[in-house]
Amino acid sequence: MNPRRTQEPETVFETAAFDRSATPPRVRKGSAHPLRAPGYARPVPQPVNVWEYEQLAEEKLDENAHAYFAGGAGDEVTMRDNLAAFERRKLRPRVLVDVQSVTTATTVLGTEIGLPILIAPLAMQRMAHPDGELATARAAAAARTIMCLSTAATTRPEEVSAAVPGAARWFQVYVFGDRSKTEELIAEAVENDFSALVLTVDAPYLGRRERDIRIDFKIPEHLTVVGDIFSAKFDAGFSWRDLEWLAGYGLPVIVKGILTAEDAELAFAHGAAAIVVSNHGGRQLDGVQASLDALEEVVAAVDGRAEVLLDGGVRRGTDVLKALALGARAVLIGRAMLWGLAVDGEQGVTRVLELLRKEVELGLALLGCASPADVTRAHVT
Ligand code: FNR
Ligand code: LAC
Repeated sequence: MNPRRTQEPETVFETAAFDRSATPPRVRKGSAHPLRAPGYARPVPQPVNVWEYEQLAEEKLDENAHAYFAGGAGDEVTMRDNLAAFERRKLRPRVLVDVQSVTTATTVLGTEIGLPILIAPLAMQRMAHPDGELATARAAAAARTIMCLSTAATTRPEEVSAAVPGAARWFQVYVFGDRSKTEELIAEAVENDFSALVLTVDAPYLGRRERDIRIDFKIPEHLTVVGDIFSAKFDAGFSWRDLEWLAGYGLPVIVKGILTAEDAELAFAHGAAAIVVSNHGGRQLDGVQASLDALEEVVAAVDGRAEVLLDGGVRRGTDVLKALALGARAVLIGRAMLWGLAVDGEQGVTRVLELLRKEVELGLALLGCASPADVTRAHVT
């Protein structure tokens, strides 16, 4: 279901089957997006945007998996607001700028990437598609971007590394009460050329997701979670001074889940190499600000001393442009990538990344910018 909807969803495609060899799915009256003019009905060979991937993924996934992937905490106010925040901001294009040659390429922590979009750490990807994290890793490498592997992945760091040797990748860290479990995982990531550690700081406990409770969510029996966040407890006593322990591994530490200037300052003071402004896709503390709304305050506090990234609610290239204009170096996508994975494995993630890259490219040109670096605060309200 598209959280931007104001009404109950209608099915967008006539059949659950999405088979390229068969008749293409037909877009029905209405669409996944509440603002799209109703009444158009024409065959589409492939989903043309992330919303359509979302709709197809919902049809394809079983209810157990869908509840876990789609849900947020509490009333899901923050989850919805992540999307609404992008709609509240308006772009301010500059015209008659030479945009004959536009590039979406940029860098994050010195690594060149083909588009200002990275893959967020997302647990249990084999529950979305049998190829799971391997599909995502291959698609990310093909798009020349960075995948962040979750502690709660269903594929080991070693396997991901073997599947895409030489690709840039980060490892997301949850610190377990039994620190040795975490240390083992980090050691495996370090040995296998992961180039940064992303410490998620908004989850001393997992949020209360009512969709999961209602459906009595269960990890499918055939899957093994690498760092089993569902049976092992996090170290809820982990605090700022422990960041030094993590920095001791010698990789840049990126702190994910910052929403205030105060914490941005502390992260920087404790050696963070970068910050991800994030509310975990609305899955942790319901009622916090949309990430886009928190971005400016964090960017101002960091004041150019470190790169600031953002995730939460990115579904369009124009969302990416708004985040860049408010000071993000790049964004991460969570569910947008996941819907592609669920629908079509590696090819689905590749398609989602390419759709978004093209949206960013055209958006840059229409905004009057030749590259992500040209987007400034003046390009958004
Ligand atoms: C997440 N997220 C997450 N974050 C993290 O640090 N470790 C994890 O294992 C997970 N797992 C996870 C599972 C699922 C199903 C979702 C939806 C999210 C949060 C994720 O990295 C990111 O912050 C959000 O997904 C961003 O919001 P969007 O892009 O999903 O709107
Ligand atoms: C989640 C955890 C795994 O959001 O981060 O489900």
